[in-house]
Amino acid sequence: MSDPRLTDLLQAVPTLRLKTDAADLEHYGRDWTRRWTPAPLAIALPGTVEEVQAVVRWARQHEVAIVPSGGRTGLSGGAVAANGELVLSLERMNRVLDFDAVDRTLTVQAGIPLQAVHNAAREHGLQYPVDFASRGSCSIGGNIAANAGGIRVIRYGNTREWIAGMKVVTGIGELLDLNRGLLKNSSGYDLRHLMIASEGTLGVVVEATLRLTDPPRPSNVMLLALPSFEVLMEVFAAFRERLQLEAFEFFTDRALHHVLAHGAQPPFSEVHPYYVVTEYESGDEAQEAAAMAAFQACMEHGWVSDGVISQSEVQAAQLWRLREDITESLARYKPYKNDVSVRISAMPAFLQETQALLGEAYPHFDVVWFGHIGDGNLHINVLQPLEMGDEAFIAQCEQVTTLLAGSLQRHAGSISAEHGIGLVKKGYLESTRSRAEIEVMRGIKRVLDPQGILNPGKLFDA
Ligand code: MLT
Ligand code: ZN
Repeated sequence: MSDPRLTDLLQAVPTLRLKTDAADLEHYGRDWTRRWTPAPLAIALPGTVEEVQAVVRWARQHEVAIVPSGGRTGLSGGAVAANGELVLSLERMNRVLDFDAVDRTLTVQAGIPLQAVHNAAREHGLQYPVDFASRGSCSIGGNIAANAGGIRVIRYGNTREWIAGMKVVTGIGELLDLNRGLLKNSSGYDLRHLMIASEGTLGVVVEATLRLTDPPRPSNVMLLALPSFEVLMEVFAAFRERLQLEAFEFFTDRALHHVLAHGAQPPFSEVHPYYVVTEYESGDEAQEAAAMAAFQACMEHGWVSDGVISQSEVQAAQLWRLREDITESLARYKPYKNDVSVRISAMPAFLQETQALLGEAYPHFDVVWFGHIGDGNLHINVLQPLEMGDEAFIAQCEQVTTLLAGSLQRHAGSISAEHGIGLVKKGYLESTRSRAEIEVMRGIKRVLDPQGILNPGKLFDA
């Protein structure tokens, strides 16, 4: 602990747990992007809200930048500490604090993993419905920071819809208790919503009160093989019209190729260019008949070439694995990720334009498409060719992102649907937000974080 600032920090907050080993700096200084070399000053692991406040006050006084840190499963560089920042990890603050059966809310510390929230809700006969593949590692605080979406947005919405209240430590070190679990509250600005998707730039979320809902109804999973990209939205419409959809996700043969190489079992004897995995409510014969009717209608139109319906929970999990394992199976290629969205009505035109654009831009790259097509959210992952250096690869990808950002602007879409802007998409924020809007954001930051110590350089430059 040679840095005198750390000795000073421990004098200011004597109970604080600090980590400074090289392995810890590396581990806590990065997220899943793997693009930046971690170089934090140290890792602070507070155990109480008071310690978080004391650390923030100390950092403000000494003008030390803080990177709030959850499970660091983010894909936009929002939790990266590459410039001597103090990482403020919420990992020790990971408990359920309260369950209220009347309000149907669960109050948790921000460092709790999403999976633990799911389990706690289930123990009370309810569910917290936001869900995605990193559930075991990501934290609720991180989910709030990014307004995480995932695979059930089509039915339940994003994280934002499920936050009944939260406690946040601002850049001044003040504790704000926002909305206090109220269902109705017309008493002025809703600062809770300002914090959601703020990527740790306005405050450190320390506690959240989450809304819970009825447990999921029985459902079935169907995997569809599609002959072409153009029919995707037709298949979606055919299923949405007849069924209560829980999820509607698509991926390409390239995505399947990587998931199979990662250990999954091939779903069909033949290879098809596109696939959809959909989950739908299926508690009775009428719902199953509706699913079959949707499938048959698609077959008759030639929009679907094959399909399989799960016959057991094990098989449903196997089908889901084909979609959920994509990110992990691509990770070793350090993919350049685009996470874009448009309104569902704009999807057909946007998809056509994007396909043409990327076909021209990346003729020799392995480009893997997948995503939450039912939410208008597309993930485009470009894999780095083995012979290409990091810098040249990213430069080429960024040229293409500039074109993609132009197309998004034309279709009134977003450069980040659910991963956040972080460092990765900072240069493209203006494709989604007007200059006037960004100025307002800067002004809000100045009020809540006057010294600019909270996650500086992420989302925008102050
Ligand atoms: C997903 O939908 O699987 C996640 O957003 C992660 C990713 O895009 O890699
Ligand atoms: Zn996603």
